[in-house]
Order: sequence, then C-alpha cells, then structure tokens
Amino acid sequence: MRGFPEGFLWGCATAAYQIEGAPKADGKGPSIWDRFAHTPGHLPEGETGDVACDHYHRFRDDIALMKQLGMQAYRFSLSWARILPLGTGAVNPAGLAFYSDLIDELLAHGIEPMVTLFHWDLPAALDDRGGWLNRDSAQWFADYARVAFEAFDGRVKKWVTLNEPWVVSDGGYLRGTIAPGHKNRFEAPIASHNLMRAHGAAVKLYREIGRHEIGLVVNIEPKYAASNSNADVAASRRAAAYMNEQYLDPALLGSYPPELREVFNGAWPEWDCSDFELIRQPVDFLGVNYYTRSVTRHDDSAWFLKAAPVRQPLATYTETNWEVYPQGLTDTLLWVRQRYGDIPLYITENGAAFFDPPVAEDGRVRDPLRTDYLRKHLLAVREAIAAGVDIRGYLVWSFMDNLEWTLGYAKRFGIVHVNFASQERTPKDSAHWYAKVIASHGESL
Ligand code: NOJ
Repeated sequence: MRGFPEGFLWGCATAAYQIEGAPKADGKGPSIWDRFAHTPGHLPEGETGDVACDHYHRFRDDIALMKQLGMQAYRFSLSWARILPLGTGAVNPAGLAFYSDLIDELLAHGIEPMVTLFHWDLPAALDDRGGWLNRDSAQWFADYARVAFEAFDGRVKKWVTLNEPWVVSDGGYLRGTIAPGHKNRFEAPIASHNLMRAHGAAVKLYREIGRHEIGLVVNIEPKYAASNSNADVAASRRAAAYMNEQYLDPALLGSYPPELREVFNGAWPEWDCSDFELIRQPVDFLGVNYYTRSVTRHDDSAWFLKAAPVRQPLATYTETNWEVYPQGLTDTLLWVRQRYGDIPLYITENGAAFFDPPVAEDGRVRDPLRTDYLRKHLLAVREAIAAGVDIRGYLVWSFMDNLEWTLGYAKRFGIVHVNFASQERTPKDSAHWYAKVIASHGESL
C-alpha cells in the first residue's frame, strides 16, 4: 500500500477558549463562552475557561514542546473578542499582538500555523445583538476576518473560516447544550444559514485581499442505517442531511439537501437564492473533523429527527461514549470526494478521550487506547489516500488536555497530559508514539 504523500503535514489542533485562559487580559471582551460557563449549572463542576491551560501565558513553552514532538503544523483559533472586544468596531492592539507573537513563535520553530477564525466563542456583545440569528452576523464576521487577514496573511498561509457550524447550531440553538444555550427549532436553521453566509462572506473577501489558502472545517459523522428497512434507511438519510450535508451542500453545491424540509417541518424557512451565491465560494481545502459514526434507526418518539442511534454491543467506546470506528473515516473521505469532487482535504481533528492514569513515578502516562485509536485512524486515512483521495495532512485533537466544553476538564483528549493544578505538561505515551510516526512520515505506523 502506498504511504503518505510528500508534503503531507503532521500536526495537532486546539481552540482558544479551551486552552488560553486570561479572559480579561489586555483588553479582551467577554465571549458567549465566558458567559455560559459562568452561569451556574452549565458545566458539571462549575468549571470555566478562566485559566484552562493558561496557554495565554505559556504559549512559548507549549510551542517548544510541540517542536520537541516534531509537529509540523498547528491549528489553533483566534478569540474574536480578544481582537475586537465588542465584536465590531475598535480593534484591540494587545489582542492582535498576542496572536502575532504566537504566530512568530510557531514560524521560528518551523511549525506551520493553520488559523481558525471562529471556534465557537462569539463576542458576547454580538450575542446581545442577536448573535447568529441576526443577518448582519455575516458582515460582522467578514469585518473581523479582514482585521485578521490584514494582520497575519502571509505569515499565515492556511485559514479556516468556521469550525463545525453544525455543533454551533445544534448545541447552541436547537438543544441548548452549549453557548448561547437556546432551545428553539425555529432558530437552528437560521443560525446555520447565517453561519454559512458568514463563511461565504469571509472567503469572498479573502479572494480580494488574501494570498494563500482558505477553507471550511466541518465535523462529519457518517450515518449507517441500522437495518435495510425503509424506515431506518430514511432515518439515517435525515440524520446525514441534518448533520453533514446541511453545511457541505450549500458551501460546495449551492443548495440544501431536500430532507431538511422534512426534518425541520414548519420551522424550515424559504431562502433567498442570492444567499447561495454568497455561501458557495470556491474553497482551497476542506477540513474534516472525524471522531465516530452513528448507526441510526427510525424512532417515532424522538423529539427531533425521528431517529435514534443504536449502540454497538461489540464495539469499543471512548469516554465521551463515541464508538471507535476507523472504517468510518475511510468511508467519509471517499464519500466527500464522490459527492463534492476532488477537493484537497485535511483531517483537521481526530482523537479520543479515555480514562488516563495519572502521571506515573517514572514520568509516563500510559494511554494505550488513545495510541490504538490514533493508529487505526491513521491507517484509515492511508487507505483513503491509496484509493486516490487528495489528503494533505492530519492534525490530532488535541495537543494537550483542555476544557472539553460542557463536559469540563474531566474528559481528556490531549496527547500531552496537563496537571491543571500545577500547569505541568507531560507527553503521554501516545505523544511519543506520534512523534515517531511523524519522524518516519508514517512508516512506523
Ligand atoms: C470538536 C471540536 O472542534 C473541539 O472543540 C472539541 O473539543 C472536539 N471536537 C472533541 O469533542
């Protein structure tokens, strides 16, 4: 089997709210995540991102550690409210300076930055103006993107507009499980649509003023029908249209999948055609975040989608209760090419939370399940490459343990262990294993 192509990038990923801390430092404005986490009852132990990994103050050490492990690329996100404390209007030079220093430090270590503009931490001031429900949000986002492009394009050659818009809409507007915590089926499609308009507006602007590459990052969870009954097949179609195609179809094909009308029923709006022209901007790459699949059956009692996941009794599940299913990654990559054409792809996130033991006396953190997970998924990527899919890189989620949103700090996805009391970092066995994979360009898998 052919290996990984020349130039294939190996690295890791994080996001601002999950690692930075310092929510009020140097003029930063509050984000909806600051607000959400500070509202009692939202996070299991009352956790917040106030300190997180204290990366804001420790980024130089963190980058040195990335270098030690051989990382070639690092995907991180900008906190919009650090740069524009009110979301629009006045720029905060200290916020820009932080990211400028971070980017310089990466470049000085030969690590390629991939910058996500929006990884869920909308400035709170914009939520006060309706957030993603306000059609102006696309313009707010493009104005913010302009500030970032003007400051960093050139040093940054890979830009991502949005991270996982489905999670923002589903968790933030439909189910109320993440910020801003709304539970309203009428809002969800509007939030999704404005997120995609924002994506389109930023890409369009980038074509005018940017010089490198820009793309979109989506989470794809392939849906497999639990049986070949018509009901189960239709349920898995609805689930796939809702979670996967709702974002990829408008961005790449310029329309929504027809199933969404049925999914949202009376809550599905009529859209203006000109919106799709804006949304469908050619992208330079697509980022795929892959964690698991879902086996789906029809369920009349389900309040939304009329579909339910079916647990696989013989499978391994991660600590977040996700089935380990590497074949789903190969299937996903092949499906993307078949449905959307030959777009350059990056695996922008892949990884797992498992119950890690504490750091042992010998300094090791033995996390064989994570290593096994990563290895199997990298083999799945290699299989898709062998089948001719244009895959340009792989980024582990995550560089280090961090705030797993509403699951708090207990769910550890890092290949580097973080002691949240002392802020000490300890590469887990999986990090040492990954370093060898990188050094051998995948030969040691
Ligand atoms: C997707 C998100 O982008 C990231 O923020 C999150 O921590 C991981 N998946 C794991 O759930």
